[in-house]
Amino acid sequence: MTARIIDGKARAAALRADVAGHVTHFAARIGRAPGLAVVLVGEDPASGVYVRSKGKATREAGMVSVERRLPADIDEWALLELVSELNADPAIDGILVQLPLPSQIDAQAVIGAIDPAKDVDGFHPVNAGRLATGLPALVPCTPLGCLMLLREAYDGKLAGLDAVVVGRSNIVGKPMAQLLLGDSCTVTIAHSRTRDVAARVRSADIVIAAVGIPHFIAGDWIKPGATVIDVGINRLPDGRLVGDVDYAAAVEVAGAITPVPGGVGPMTIACLLRNTLVAACRREG
Ligand code: GUN
Repeated sequence: MTARIIDGKARAAALRADVAGHVTHFAARIGRAPGLAVVLVGEDPASGVYVRSKGKATREAGMVSVERRLPADIDEWALLELVSELNADPAIDGILVQLPLPSQIDAQAVIGAIDPAKDVDGFHPVNAGRLATGLPALVPCTPLGCLMLLREAYDGKLAGLDAVVVGRSNIVGKPMAQLLLGDSCTVTIAHSRTRDVAARVRSADIVIAAVGIPHFIAGDWIKPGATVIDVGINRLPDGRLVGDVDYAAAVEVAGAITPVPGGVGPMTIACLLRNTLVAACRREG
């Protein structure tokens, strides 16, 4: 059996078009477009690429993109000042501080300083807590994108399925587990200290791979017919981009699988635009 390839690029394009349509209505009703501020500290090339593509996608959706760059050696106070300025700016609906931050800055302090109503990353403890308790929240973009792909793959019928999330980060693993629980999956979170990760993966109908290690999940770990969502984006020494799953082997066993690139990645940016629109609509009432 060869898996169905889940086309994240196409799903993301549809979501972006949907957001752009709503942005047009928002602008006509409110008299301005939603605004997203992206803050980049330092010169990390990968972060620079992400920030540029977020800005481009924001403008393509008809929203206002504000990019603020700060030098790598700024102190935490200067960044907190900028966050506070953006919190107070009525034209800004979403604030995203690109991670990772330089070591002299406490990332949790910066995330905690963002107005939860503008926290389009969904990383603020208030949004994490709202997600965990089933209240409306701004939800982290990558897991939200994964959930959208899964809901489509299963025609909305996720209840009762066994899901394993491999990885326990605040950005992907933990919110992903909460979202799956919210859709009534039976959820296991596996991580670096889990005994026999392979056995956990073998029993799962849904596998979310978010460990950041190339080819960590072997093809023979996958239960025949399972759905595999690969969040990993790893660059090999030869320049190739690969996920956390051994795709060539897994595609022969899985029922459906996301490719890397072209799977989860495009959904993350589309969900950022969606979150910015949601934040703008909630702020304007
Ligand atoms: N760095 C890598 N992924 C992300 C993300 O989703 N949000 C932010 N702010 N930084 C990141």
